[in-house]
Amino acid sequence: MQVFKFKKDLNGFLQSKTYKQKTIGFVPTMGALHEGHIALVKRAYEENDLVVVSIFVNPTQFDSKDDLDKYPITLEKDLQLLKKVSDKIIVFTPTKENIYDNQIKSNSYNFNGLEKVMEGTFREGHFDGVGTIVELLLKAVNPSKAYFGEKDFQQLQIIKKLVTLKAISCQIIGCPIEREPNGLARSSRNERLSKSTRKKASFIYKTLNTAKNKFGTESATRIKDWVNNEFSKNSLFKLEYFEITDIDTLTPILKKQKNRKYRAFIAAYTEEVRLIDNIALN
Ligand code: PAJ
Repeated sequence: MQVFKFKKDLNGFLQSKTYKQKTIGFVPTMGALHEGHIALVKRAYEENDLVVVSIFVNPTQFDSKDDLDKYPITLEKDLQLLKKVSDKIIVFTPTKENIYDNQIKSNSYNFNGLEKVMEGTFREGHFDGVGTIVELLLKAVNPSKAYFGEKDFQQLQIIKKLVTLKAISCQIIGCPIEREPNGLARSSRNERLSKSTRKKASFIYKTLNTAKNKFGTESATRIKDWVNNEFSKNSLFKLEYFEITDIDTLTPILKKQKNRKYRAFIAAYTEEVRLIDNIALN
């Protein structure tokens, strides 16, 4: 398996005679890989000649130093997992100095309000950091298609907007959420939960599912009240937000409209770990 640490070397490889004409599928990650990431890699592998996976814990998208410091780094294990999919996968593990050209700071973006709600409200500067690194990575890899999980649905919509804004010719593909057997959305952060809490964290997905069932007959306000009440009865989880939004604008629902699609989103804390999840409602 080829592992590159420097943009220049990755570029040299991808631009070489053998690979120049190949289609590239790209999966950006922060490592600590799990089945959620691997599903994206497999999809990219099916749809392209070459697959590049980046592993880079991007400092500019963390609003808390503590969260950044605690982010798991498991490079050897990650490489083994990728090798199981194929030893032809190309891995890009840049240093922050290399990928940022020594200017480790975020650009400022206007994503038409997509960045102002939910994660944008609670994680200051997060989407400027995500936009900056994804723009840099897309320019370094120059893929035909890039794969993002619906687990971070707001991020997915923002990246779609980013490529339009910056006229980057790359198709952005959204992939379904991979879950643990109890329904908990797979996440690198799940590793930080105790065994018992990890089991009980199916509560988040169960709540989203019930909200979905209620969506056919009840108002968004009633559903929100119900979710707030469920969380107030469960002392293990602290709700940060529950929102029902239009999937395209991510604006909170005012009145259900027949021709619009909606999604429900949850962010919650347990054992000082922040978990997010979402579900399509119609
Ligand atoms: P990371 O959290 O490592 O996630 C990498 C990709 O895997 C994202 O597109 C994310 O949505 C997807 N993913 C994570 N868990 C998933 C799951 N359970 N099911 C399906 N897809 C899942 O997201 C980031 O990194 C960073 O913000 C990044 C885009 C790499 C920029 O730094």
